[in-house]
Amino acid sequence: MSTHGAPLREYTLLAIESSCDETAAAVVRSGAEGGALVLSDVVRSQVAFHAKWGGVVPEIASRNHLVDITPVVEEAVARAGVSWAGIDAVAVTQGPGLVGALLVGLQVAKSLAYAHRKPLIPVHHLLGHLSAVALYAPDEPPPALPPFPHLALIVSGGHTALYRVEGPEEARPVANTCDDAAGEAFDKVARMLGLGYPGGPAVEREARLGDPRAHSFTLPRLKGRPLDLSFSGLKTAVLTVIKARGALPAEQEMRDLVASFQRAAVAQLVDRCLAALDAEGLRDLTVAGGVACNTPLREALAARLAAGGGRLYVPPRRWCTDNAAMIGAAALRAAPALVARGPSRADLSLNALSSWPLGAPHPARAAQP
Ligand code: KG4
Ligand code: ZN
Repeated sequence: MSTHGAPLREYTLLAIESSCDETAAAVVRSGAEGGALVLSDVVRSQVAFHAKWGGVVPEIASRNHLVDITPVVEEAVARAGVSWAGIDAVAVTQGPGLVGALLVGLQVAKSLAYAHRKPLIPVHHLLGHLSAVALYAPDEPPPALPPFPHLALIVSGGHTALYRVEGPEEARPVANTCDDAAGEAFDKVARMLGLGYPGGPAVEREARLGDPRAHSFTLPRLKGRPLDLSFSGLKTAVLTVIKARGALPAEQEMRDLVASFQRAAVAQLVDRCLAALDAEGLRDLTVAGGVACNTPLREALAARLAAGGGRLYVPPRRWCTDNAAMIGAAALRAAPALVARGPSRADLSLNALSSWPLGAPHPARAAQP
């Protein structure tokens, strides 16, 4: 029996995500076995606009969201084949993320909720990533969901952290990176070697042809914080190799270098996941965020967990990177209460929360007496 329960009635949500450099909208419906059925999923990536800067430029992101958001939302509604009468609520990422980028999605979501008299459901971006394991397409069976409690690794360009997940909306931080996010390290290493942006897919591709043992990079250990992570030393170690050479490495040397970097990055992520599972007395792990696309990471975690009797739950790659379907999946849990309450004027005063630690109470709720 699913520990996630079955919905008493189906809810259909329009979800909007604009926290970083993807403009995304999706229509998601409460599905079987606690899953979230994806009726449409539109993601317009701005990668090409940010590539020449080697990273996301906040001002460019906001401007592109403004251009793309309306067509992306219209496409998501049209592809889902639903009318506004069939949409119960509008879900939107409230934070954390780039404030200017968040505001675009939030403003559009508020306007649609107001115009169509629908409740608005604000969603924490990282709860969205954690909910991506529940997503499935109409031609797929609903996925098996991790039992509670379990450990979750969120590993992306902006976040690298471990959480103990007690329930659908209850996550407690267990460990965090003390400097760069893992995806940021992939991006920076790719940039040093002229591999383009985003770096993760390029590093993974080149690493396949390299020798991962060509360089041995050490596993960082933070004094008194055995579960916390660090990627800036690894990034600097790669830079040191390049500088010592005095020029950009030739093709095979570059492949050996990125393969060694990827091996060290994956080894650290696996090491911390296993140590945190042990420290928390847990067996099962979910992984989400862009770096969860990385095949060596997926394979290493699956193998190590299986050896310990646990199980790895990881969404299909298309739902590891930023998307709106995961925001819809997270919002489905709040839908019954909010739809019953009906549209609220107070929702229209919602503001973007650029900084909002997962596990901390919602700032608006925390402010209430
Ligand atoms: O979750 P995401 O789309 O955006 C946020 O950062 O929130 O993650 C993007 C990050 C980038 O740093 C990108 O280089 C990394 O995920 N990434 C990967 C791979 N695909 C994307 N890193 C390693 N291997 C990959 N295959
Ligand atoms: Zn993200």
